[in-house]
Amino acid sequence: MIPAAAPHVPVLLDEVIAALAIRAGEIHVDGTFGAGGYTRAMLELGARVYAFDRDPSAIRDGSGLADDSGGRLTLVPERFSRMRQALASRGVEEVDGVTLDIGVSSMQFDQAERGFSFQGDGPLDMRMSQEGESAADFLNNADEADIADVIYKYGEEPKSRRIARAIVAARPIERTGQLADIVRRAVGWHPGMKKDPATRTFQAIRIHLNEELDELEGGLEAAEQVLKAGGRLAVVTFHSLEDRVVKRFLRERSGAVPAASRHLPAVADKGPKPTFEAVAKAVRPSEAEVAANPRARSATLRVARRTSAPSRMRKGIHS
Ligand SMILES: C[S@@+](CC[C@H](N)C(=O)[O-])C[C@H]1O[C@@H](n2cnc3c(N)ncnc32)[C@H](O)[C@@H]1O
Repeated sequence: MIPAAAPHVPVLLDEVIAALAIRAGEIHVDGTFGAGGYTRAMLELGARVYAFDRDPSAIRDGSGLADDSGGRLTLVPERFSRMRQALASRGVEEVDGVTLDIGVSSMQFDQAERGFSFQGDGPLDMRMSQEGESAADFLNNADEADIADVIYKYGEEPKSRRIARAIVAARPIERTGQLADIVRRAVGWHPGMKKDPATRTFQAIRIHLNEELDELEGGLEAAEQVLKAGGRLAVVTFHSLEDRVVKRFLRERSGAVPAASRHLPAVADKGPKPTFEAVAKAVRPSEAEVAANPRARSATLRVARRTSAPSRMRKGIHS
Protein backbone atom coordinates (compact mmCIF):
# COMPACT_ATOMS: atom_id res chain seq x y z
CA MET A 1 0.00 0.00 0.00
CA ILE A 2 1.14 3.54 -0.72
CA PRO A 3 1.64 5.62 2.48
CA ALA A 4 -0.59 8.60 3.29
CA ALA A 5 0.00 12.10 1.99
CA ALA A 6 2.97 14.14 3.22
CA PRO A 7 3.23 17.78 4.42
CA HIS A 8 3.75 19.44 1.03
CA VAL A 9 0.40 19.94 -0.70
CA PRO A 10 0.96 19.28 -4.41
CA VAL A 11 -0.01 22.20 -6.65
CA LEU A 12 -2.17 21.71 -9.79
CA LEU A 13 -2.04 17.96 -9.14
CA ASP A 14 -5.22 17.03 -11.05
CA GLU A 15 -4.25 19.23 -13.99
CA VAL A 16 -0.71 17.81 -14.16
CA ILE A 17 -1.91 14.22 -13.97
CA ALA A 18 -4.64 14.83 -16.58
CA ALA A 19 -2.08 16.41 -18.92
CA LEU A 20 0.27 13.45 -18.59
CA ALA A 21 -2.48 10.99 -19.67
CA ILE A 22 -0.59 8.15 -17.97
CA ARG A 23 -1.19 4.56 -19.04
CA ALA A 24 -0.19 1.63 -16.84
CA GLY A 25 3.32 0.42 -17.60
CA GLU A 26 4.58 3.75 -18.95
CA ILE A 27 7.87 5.18 -17.70
CA HIS A 28 7.67 8.64 -16.10
CA VAL A 29 10.21 11.03 -14.65
CA ASP A 30 9.20 13.18 -11.70
CA GLY A 31 12.11 15.62 -11.76
CA THR A 32 11.16 17.25 -8.45
CA PHE A 33 10.07 14.52 -6.04
CA GLY A 34 9.62 16.76 -2.95
CA ALA A 35 7.07 15.00 -0.74
CA GLY A 36 6.11 12.73 -3.62
CA GLY A 37 2.66 14.18 -4.33
CA TYR A 38 2.94 13.78 -8.10
CA THR A 39 4.90 10.53 -7.87
CA ARG A 40 2.24 8.97 -5.67
CA ALA A 41 -0.46 9.80 -8.24
CA MET A 42 1.72 8.43 -11.08
CA LEU A 43 2.23 5.17 -9.19
CA GLU A 44 -1.50 4.87 -8.54
CA LEU A 45 -2.04 5.01 -12.31
CA GLY A 46 0.37 2.14 -12.80
CA ALA A 47 3.43 4.05 -14.03
CA ARG A 48 7.07 3.10 -13.49
CA VAL A 49 8.58 6.25 -11.95
CA TYR A 50 12.11 7.63 -11.74
CA ALA A 51 11.88 10.45 -9.19
CA PHE A 52 14.71 12.96 -8.86
CA ASP A 53 15.49 15.33 -6.01
CA ARG A 54 18.70 17.16 -5.28
CA ASP A 55 17.74 17.41 -1.59
CA PRO A 56 18.99 14.34 0.34
CA SER A 57 16.23 14.85 2.95
CA ALA A 58 13.50 14.47 0.30
CA ILE A 59 15.12 11.28 -0.99
CA ARG A 60 15.46 9.89 2.55
CA ASP A 61 11.83 10.69 3.39
CA GLY A 62 10.69 8.99 0.17
CA SER A 63 12.30 5.65 0.93
CA GLY A 64 9.08 4.21 2.43
CA LEU A 65 7.17 5.04 -0.74
CA ALA A 66 9.88 3.39 -2.83
CA ASP A 67 9.84 0.28 -0.59
CA ASP A 68 6.06 0.01 -0.97
CA SER A 69 6.01 0.57 -4.73
CA GLY A 70 6.74 -3.01 -5.72
CA GLY A 71 9.88 -1.93 -7.56
CA ARG A 72 8.05 0.72 -9.60
CA LEU A 73 9.69 3.74 -7.93
CA THR A 74 13.38 4.53 -8.15
CA LEU A 75 14.55 7.58 -6.20
CA VAL A 76 17.45 9.39 -7.82
CA PRO A 77 19.48 11.82 -5.65
CA GLU A 78 20.48 14.02 -8.58
CA ARG A 79 19.76 17.33 -10.25
CA PHE A 80 17.11 16.96 -12.92
CA SER A 81 19.39 18.65 -15.45
CA ARG A 82 21.35 15.37 -15.31
CA MET A 83 18.34 13.13 -15.95
CA ARG A 84 19.62 11.80 -19.26
CA GLN A 85 22.88 10.52 -17.76
CA ALA A 86 21.18 9.28 -14.57
CA LEU A 87 18.55 7.37 -16.55
CA ALA A 88 21.12 5.94 -18.97
CA SER A 89 23.19 4.62 -16.07
CA ARG A 90 20.05 2.74 -14.97
CA GLY A 91 19.51 1.33 -18.43
CA VAL A 92 16.71 3.74 -19.45
CA GLU A 93 17.09 5.49 -22.79
CA GLU A 94 13.63 7.01 -23.28
CA VAL A 95 10.54 7.82 -21.23
CA ASP A 96 6.85 8.61 -21.74
CA GLY A 97 6.65 11.69 -19.53
CA VAL A 98 8.74 14.28 -17.70
CA THR A 99 7.28 16.49 -14.98
CA LEU A 100 8.98 19.40 -13.22
CA ASP A 101 7.48 21.29 -10.28
CA ILE A 102 9.96 24.09 -9.83
CA GLY A 103 11.04 25.79 -6.61
CA VAL A 104 11.22 24.86 -2.96
CA SER A 105 8.95 22.45 -1.11
CA SER A 106 6.96 23.33 2.00
CA MET A 107 9.32 21.09 4.01
CA GLN A 108 12.30 23.16 2.86
CA PHE A 109 10.51 26.48 3.30
CA ASP A 110 8.87 25.79 6.64
CA GLN A 111 11.93 24.45 8.46
CA ALA A 112 13.72 27.49 9.85
CA GLU A 113 17.04 25.62 9.95
CA ARG A 114 17.06 25.33 6.14
CA GLY A 115 17.26 29.12 5.98
CA PHE A 116 14.87 29.71 3.05
CA SER A 117 12.36 31.80 4.96
CA PHE A 118 12.31 34.79 7.27
CA GLN A 119 9.06 33.69 8.92
CA GLY A 120 11.13 31.92 11.56
CA ASP A 121 14.74 32.78 12.40
CA GLY A 122 17.32 30.28 11.16
CA PRO A 123 20.87 30.04 9.81
CA LEU A 124 21.33 31.67 6.38
CA ASP A 125 21.64 28.43 4.43
CA MET A 126 19.18 28.13 1.46
CA ARG A 127 20.96 25.17 -0.19
CA MET A 128 18.54 22.61 -1.62
CA SER A 129 21.29 20.03 -1.97
CA GLN A 130 22.71 20.80 1.50
CA GLU A 131 26.20 21.22 0.05
CA GLY A 132 28.28 23.96 -1.55
CA GLU A 133 28.14 27.69 -0.88
CA SER A 134 25.52 28.81 1.65
CA ALA A 135 23.67 32.11 1.62
CA ALA A 136 25.87 33.28 4.52
CA ASP A 137 29.05 32.36 2.55
CA PHE A 138 27.80 34.35 -0.43
CA LEU A 139 26.59 37.44 1.45
CA ASN A 140 29.69 37.63 3.68
CA ASN A 141 32.23 37.24 0.88
CA ALA A 142 30.86 38.52 -2.43
CA ASP A 143 31.49 42.00 -3.81
CA GLU A 144 28.77 44.53 -3.15
CA ALA A 145 28.18 44.92 -6.90
CA ASP A 146 27.71 41.16 -7.35
CA ILE A 147 25.22 41.01 -4.48
CA ALA A 148 23.31 43.93 -5.99
CA ASP A 149 23.27 42.25 -9.41
CA VAL A 150 21.85 39.02 -7.97
CA ILE A 151 19.12 40.87 -6.05
CA TYR A 152 18.23 42.90 -9.14
CA LYS A 153 18.31 40.04 -11.62
CA TYR A 154 16.61 37.27 -9.66
CA GLY A 155 14.47 39.40 -7.32
CA GLU A 156 13.56 42.12 -9.82
CA GLU A 157 14.24 44.45 -6.89
CA PRO A 158 14.58 48.12 -7.94
CA LYS A 159 16.38 49.01 -4.66
CA SER A 160 19.01 46.28 -5.07
CA ARG A 161 22.02 48.63 -4.76
CA ARG A 162 20.77 50.13 -1.53
CA ILE A 163 20.13 46.66 -0.09
CA ALA A 164 23.56 45.37 -1.14
CA ARG A 165 25.22 48.39 0.49
CA ALA A 166 23.35 47.73 3.74
CA ILE A 167 24.29 44.03 3.65
CA VAL A 168 27.98 44.76 3.22
CA ALA A 169 27.89 47.36 6.01
CA ALA A 170 26.28 44.85 8.39
CA ARG A 171 28.64 41.90 7.78
CA PRO A 172 28.96 39.27 9.11
CA ILE A 173 25.35 38.14 8.60
CA GLU A 174 24.48 34.69 9.86
CA ARG A 175 20.70 34.53 10.45
CA THR A 176 17.62 34.88 8.24
CA GLY A 177 16.00 37.26 10.73
CA GLN A 178 19.07 39.51 10.60
CA LEU A 179 18.98 39.64 6.79
CA ALA A 180 15.25 40.36 6.72
CA ASP A 181 15.72 43.29 9.12
CA ILE A 182 18.59 44.72 7.09
CA VAL A 183 16.51 44.57 3.89
CA ARG A 184 13.41 46.06 5.55
CA ARG A 185 15.43 48.97 6.95
CA ALA A 186 17.18 49.58 3.62
CA VAL A 187 13.93 49.54 1.64
CA GLY A 188 11.82 51.40 4.17
CA TRP A 189 9.33 48.90 5.55
CA HIS A 190 6.25 49.89 7.47
CA PRO A 191 3.58 47.69 9.03
CA GLY A 192 0.62 47.28 6.73
CA MET A 193 2.79 46.96 3.60
CA LYS A 194 1.13 44.34 1.38
CA LYS A 195 4.25 42.28 0.82
CA ASP A 196 7.28 42.05 3.09
CA PRO A 197 10.11 43.79 1.18
CA ALA A 198 12.50 41.01 2.21
CA THR A 199 10.60 38.52 0.00
CA ARG A 200 12.26 39.57 -3.25
CA THR A 201 15.77 39.54 -1.79
CA PHE A 202 15.31 36.08 -0.27
CA GLN A 203 13.96 34.76 -3.59
CA ALA A 204 16.91 36.24 -5.46
CA ILE A 205 19.58 34.75 -3.21
CA ARG A 206 17.89 31.33 -3.30
CA ILE A 207 17.66 31.32 -7.11
CA HIS A 208 21.30 32.38 -7.41
CA LEU A 209 22.72 29.86 -4.93
CA ASN A 210 20.79 26.92 -6.36
CA GLU A 211 21.34 28.04 -9.98
CA GLU A 212 17.63 27.53 -10.41
CA LEU A 213 17.17 29.11 -13.84
CA ASP A 214 20.15 27.26 -15.32
CA GLU A 215 18.78 24.05 -13.82
CA LEU A 216 15.37 24.71 -15.34
CA GLU A 217 16.86 25.30 -18.74
CA GLY A 218 19.03 22.19 -18.38
CA GLY A 219 15.99 20.16 -17.28
CA LEU A 220 14.00 21.22 -20.33
CA GLU A 221 16.88 20.30 -22.63
CA ALA A 222 17.30 16.96 -20.88
CA ALA A 223 13.56 16.29 -21.21
CA GLU A 224 13.84 16.90 -24.94
CA GLN A 225 16.57 14.28 -25.06
CA VAL A 226 14.84 11.55 -23.05
CA LEU A 227 11.21 11.90 -24.14
CA LYS A 228 10.05 9.50 -26.83
CA ALA A 229 7.88 10.72 -29.73
CA GLY A 230 4.44 11.46 -28.27
CA GLY A 231 5.91 11.79 -24.75
CA ARG A 232 4.52 14.53 -22.51
CA LEU A 233 6.29 17.37 -20.73
CA ALA A 234 4.55 19.14 -17.83
CA VAL A 235 6.21 22.06 -16.03
CA VAL A 236 4.84 24.00 -13.07
CA THR A 237 6.52 27.32 -12.26
CA PHE A 238 5.90 29.87 -9.50
CA HIS A 239 7.09 33.21 -10.79
CA SER A 240 7.57 35.09 -14.01
CA LEU A 241 11.34 34.55 -14.26
CA GLU A 242 10.82 30.78 -14.34
CA ASP A 243 7.75 30.87 -16.56
CA ARG A 244 9.62 33.05 -19.05
CA VAL A 245 12.30 30.35 -19.43
CA VAL A 246 9.67 27.65 -20.07
CA LYS A 247 7.61 29.83 -22.41
CA ARG A 248 10.61 30.81 -24.44
CA PHE A 249 11.92 27.24 -24.63
CA LEU A 250 8.58 25.89 -25.83
CA ARG A 251 8.12 28.75 -28.29
CA GLU A 252 11.53 28.04 -29.82
CA ARG A 253 11.15 24.29 -29.81
CA SER A 254 7.66 24.29 -31.26
CA GLY A 255 8.87 26.32 -34.20
CA ALA A 256 6.70 29.32 -33.36
CA VAL A 257 8.35 32.42 -34.80
CA PRO A 258 7.56 36.07 -34.10
CA ALA A 259 4.84 37.47 -36.38
CA ALA A 260 6.46 38.47 -39.67
CA SER A 261 6.42 42.14 -40.61
CA ARG A 262 3.81 42.86 -43.27
CA HIS A 263 6.39 45.08 -44.99
CA LEU A 264 8.77 42.18 -45.59
CA PRO A 265 8.34 39.24 -47.95
CA ALA A 266 7.57 35.92 -46.26
CA VAL A 267 10.67 33.76 -45.80
CA ALA A 268 10.38 29.99 -45.72
CA ASP A 269 11.45 28.62 -42.34
CA LYS A 270 14.60 26.61 -42.91
CA GLY A 271 15.26 26.04 -39.21
CA PRO A 272 15.36 22.65 -37.49
CA LYS A 273 12.10 20.73 -37.14
CA PRO A 274 9.99 21.40 -34.02
CA THR A 275 10.79 19.01 -31.17
CA PHE A 276 7.67 19.89 -29.18
CA GLU A 277 4.11 20.86 -29.89
CA ALA A 278 2.26 22.86 -27.27
CA VAL A 279 -0.92 21.00 -26.38
CA ALA A 280 -2.77 23.65 -24.38
CA LYS A 281 -2.61 27.19 -23.10
CA ALA A 282 -0.96 27.85 -19.76
CA VAL A 283 -3.06 26.44 -16.91
CA ARG A 284 -3.61 28.40 -13.69
CA PRO A 285 -5.03 27.10 -10.41
CA SER A 286 -8.74 27.43 -9.67
CA GLU A 287 -9.96 29.85 -7.01
CA ALA A 288 -10.84 26.85 -4.85
CA GLU A 289 -7.28 25.54 -5.02
CA VAL A 290 -5.80 28.94 -4.15
CA ALA A 291 -8.22 29.27 -1.22
CA ALA A 292 -7.22 25.83 0.07
CA ASN A 293 -3.50 26.24 -0.66
CA PRO A 294 -2.26 29.85 -0.91
CA ARG A 295 1.09 28.54 -2.15
CA ALA A 296 -0.66 27.70 -5.45
CA ARG A 297 -1.48 31.38 -6.03
CA SER A 298 1.24 32.13 -8.56
CA ALA A 299 1.53 28.67 -10.17
CA THR A 300 1.48 28.19 -13.94
CA LEU A 301 1.43 24.83 -15.71
CA ARG A 302 2.67 24.45 -19.27
CA VAL A 303 2.34 21.22 -21.17
CA ALA A 304 3.83 20.07 -24.46
CA ARG A 305 4.08 16.88 -26.50
CA ARG A 306 7.36 15.64 -27.94
CA THR A 307 7.48 15.24 -31.69
CA SER A 308 9.64 12.71 -33.49
CA ALA A 309 12.24 15.33 -34.55
CA PRO A 310 15.78 14.80 -33.23
CA SER A 311 16.65 16.81 -30.10
CA ARG A 312 18.80 19.93 -30.48
CA MET A 313 21.78 21.01 -28.47
CA ARG A 314 21.56 24.70 -27.97
CA LYS A 315 23.09 27.75 -26.35
CA GLY A 316 21.76 29.21 -23.08
CA ILE A 317 18.53 31.16 -23.35
CA HIS A 318 19.37 33.53 -20.55
CA SER A 319 22.69 34.79 -19.26
C1 LIG B 1 7.98 22.28 -5.26
S1 LIG B 1 8.82 20.90 -4.63
C2 LIG B 1 8.08 19.54 -5.45
C3 LIG B 1 6.87 19.01 -4.77
C4 LIG B 1 6.31 17.75 -5.37
N1 LIG B 1 5.76 17.95 -6.69
C5 LIG B 1 5.26 17.14 -4.46
O1 LIG B 1 4.11 17.01 -4.90
O2 LIG B 1 5.56 16.84 -3.32
C6 LIG B 1 10.36 21.00 -5.47
C7 LIG B 1 11.35 19.92 -5.10
O3 LIG B 1 12.27 19.84 -6.18
C8 LIG B 1 13.57 19.79 -5.70
N2 LIG B 1 14.40 20.43 -6.72
C9 LIG B 1 14.43 21.73 -7.06
N3 LIG B 1 15.30 21.93 -8.05
C10 LIG B 1 15.80 20.73 -8.38
C11 LIG B 1 16.74 20.28 -9.35
N4 LIG B 1 17.33 21.13 -10.19
N5 LIG B 1 17.02 18.96 -9.42
C12 LIG B 1 16.42 18.08 -8.57
N6 LIG B 1 15.54 18.45 -7.62
C13 LIG B 1 15.23 19.77 -7.53
C14 LIG B 1 13.56 20.51 -4.39
O4 LIG B 1 14.61 20.03 -3.56
C15 LIG B 1 12.17 20.19 -3.85
O5 LIG B 1 12.20 19.04 -3.04
